[in-house]
Amino acid sequence: MPQYGVEIAGTGSYVPDRVLSNRDLERMVDTSDEWIVARTGIRERRIADKGEPTSALGAEAAKRALEKANVQAEDLDFIIAATLSPDTPFPNTGCHIQQRIGAPNAACFSIEAACSGFLYAVNIGADMIRCGTATNILVVAAEKMSTLVDWTDRNTCVLFGDGAGAVVLRKTTAGKDALLACKLGANGNFVDLLKVPAGGTAVPLNHKLLDRRMNCIHMSGREIFKLAVNVMSDTSEEVLQMAGMPKEEVRWLIPHQANTRIIKAVGKRIGIPEDRVFINVDRYGNTSAASIPVALDELERTDQLQQGDCLLMTAFGGGLTWGAGLLRW
Ligand code: ACO
Repeated sequence: MPQYGVEIAGTGSYVPDRVLSNRDLERMVDTSDEWIVARTGIRERRIADKGEPTSALGAEAAKRALEKANVQAEDLDFIIAATLSPDTPFPNTGCHIQQRIGAPNAACFSIEAACSGFLYAVNIGADMIRCGTATNILVVAAEKMSTLVDWTDRNTCVLFGDGAGAVVLRKTTAGKDALLACKLGANGNFVDLLKVPAGGTAVPLNHKLLDRRMNCIHMSGREIFKLAVNVMSDTSEEVLQMAGMPKEEVRWLIPHQANTRIIKAVGKRIGIPEDRVFINVDRYGNTSAASIPVALDELERTDQLQQGDCLLMTAFGGGLTWGAGLLRW
């Protein structure tokens, strides 16, 4: 039995002002609004400015979460950033966010688990609070996907968007733990399905590779689609079972926002009716690790969450990585 419990004290999110619509994309690559909406459900996405790195998006979301939680930056013990689009290879994006918001008493690190990063970070933060290592932890998932997208590749450039979401995790009593169950997974045999091929130590960047846009996202969409539906629904069912929670008690299924068809297939397989499946991918595209905390914050700020609601979150991403978590609001 853990010594303490964890609660979500506040949520925050931020998306850049600039909207890139499907019609805009029609002028950039050989695509159509009809194709994008029918295959993905996406209508528009947000694009950050040149001078607005990942940490700037994350810091805005973080400030809003701290304000909502009524927690001062000085009271944070840790900042855990989740991102696959860091400001710099190092220092980690957590430190860049710390520079922007203050938080002199926080230790900072980053999790790189692609679109599953938020669930990985929340699980790690929750365990640190439960064992007494921390009292207040800021989890920030922030992505500037527009810098990793090949804007000449219609297979990928229509899918992604920029944004950030944050939560403040706070210590509470063991009996009031809000994270009822969490399960994470990965399968490294699928590393080649979704990746940025060059720019790391395996394939350092050079001019030739840059010309071939090997510093951008490369993806086998059809294979990922099938795997995503399977792992998200299986892991969701597993956490429901771990918590002894009937699916009828789930108020909201909050899946990673990659594609409406994937989201609806997961809801159908778990047996959660469509009016309890949250979707905002139409407005933001796939914001990778940020998608779940942005959704959570949107639900909270539009008064769609009641105290005691049961929220089932699930994600998948490059790696492959995946996870699910069950929250009592
Ligand atoms: N506009 C018009 N046509 C297009 C476009 C486009 N933007 N993109 C692809 N097509 C064409 C293809 O070239 C193909 O043409 P062909 O049959 O002549 O070869 C045709 O459309 C069908 O392509 P499919 O790949 O079979 O289309 P599918 O229905 O699978 O949809 C999609 C593609 C949307 C990418 C889908 O497979 C998908 O969403 N997969 C999951 C991807 C995903 O979620 N990735 C993010 C993971 S999270 C992370 O970690 C970042």
